[in-house]
Amino acid sequence: MSGKVVLAYSGGLDTSVAIRWLKENYDLEVVALTIDVGNERDFTVIKEKALKVGAVKAVVIDSKELFVNHFIFPALKADALYEGQYPLATALSRPLIGKLLVDVAREEGAVAVSHGSTGKGNDQVRIEVSVNALAPDLKIIAPAREWGMTREETIEYAGRYDIPVPVTVSSPYSIDENLWGRSIECGVLEDPWVEPPEDAFAWTKSPKEAPDTPGYVEIGFEQGVPVAIDGKKMGGVTLIRALSEMAGSHGVGRVDLVENRLVGIKSREIYEAPAAMVLLQAHQSLQALTLSKEQMRFKQKVAIEYADLVYNGLWFTSLHEDLAACIQSSQRYVTGTVRLKLFKGTYTVVGRKSPYSLYSYGLATYDKDDVFDQSAAAGFIHIWGLPVKTQAQIQGTGRLEKS
Ligand code: ARG
Repeated sequence: MSGKVVLAYSGGLDTSVAIRWLKENYDLEVVALTIDVGNERDFTVIKEKALKVGAVKAVVIDSKELFVNHFIFPALKADALYEGQYPLATALSRPLIGKLLVDVAREEGAVAVSHGSTGKGNDQVRIEVSVNALAPDLKIIAPAREWGMTREETIEYAGRYDIPVPVTVSSPYSIDENLWGRSIECGVLEDPWVEPPEDAFAWTKSPKEAPDTPGYVEIGFEQGVPVAIDGKKMGGVTLIRALSEMAGSHGVGRVDLVENRLVGIKSREIYEAPAAMVLLQAHQSLQALTLSKEQMRFKQKVAIEYADLVYNGLWFTSLHEDLAACIQSSQRYVTGTVRLKLFKGTYTVVGRKSPYSLYSYGLATYDKDDVFDQSAAAGFIHIWGLPVKTQAQIQGTGRLEKS
């Protein structure tokens, strides 16, 4: 092959080795593309490193705003939690990476794109399905899936070609970070019986060490999007960072999950997602106030579909557009404020209010202000219970002795 390949470059060992490997094995010139999705690192160092190990060009794209507005907040509005627990931080970043790989490949006139994911995970699927959807003509090369090197052999390869091995390689974990959360796997975590050691965590304080007095935070939402903390308006990136800091300091946002990967493996994953967990909780409790019972029931089903779709790499599909439209419509009145208490790893909603609240004090109260017509309940029960009574009479449903 000849020409250019755009490689999604993190600056870590695998993608650094990949630069050299792509040249050796495919004779392609490597354009290194580093995408800033809030993983706060020194991007000039990464850029220099890419060039040093042999890239012909190194590009860094700040995608934080794009990531928040087009990926994170739509997932928040959807209440997306994979298997009820994982807020999908890594998964959400992959279609964005796929899209930017394609954009840069077009600008550079590249013939291929490349990424550092292995053949066992979800990320290869998400990136490649996205690239295939957007640019079916581009070839995709996954060096880490092809080269068949162990960790040690990769380090040896790096040594042979003068590729600096980062000190972080000594870390026993494989880590992926962005604004929405931090994913940690490998090392002792591969035994699901072993409690995650404290050194696996970086964003959250151990609840044991968290402050003895609770912290309170008020989150303001407009149509399902968080826009303010404690009455102060701020942009999405700033808001997520501030909340992550605050909740993390109270030990909030740790998730320990055995999840079902798309490729058929069960894997033990640790997540730290203080802002995501708090925002998802707050958002749901505001919906409880502003959506009807039927809207909420339907939305819960959509949430499961949506989370599966994101997890399974199906971002660039019509089904996604359909679900997103439904979710967007559901957020028209999800405006208001939620107050939460953060305390030693727990986050509890303790107050909520909205100009569109469907909660009626007059209907709910047992005090003298009660406007609920209790006498009407008798007729309601008569009709509601009619089919139940009929069936019980004819078929004897519910008799204890009959099972
Ligand atoms: N299991 C998660 C997912 O599939 C996280 C993967 C994180 N990758 C990593 N290198 N730690 O979305």
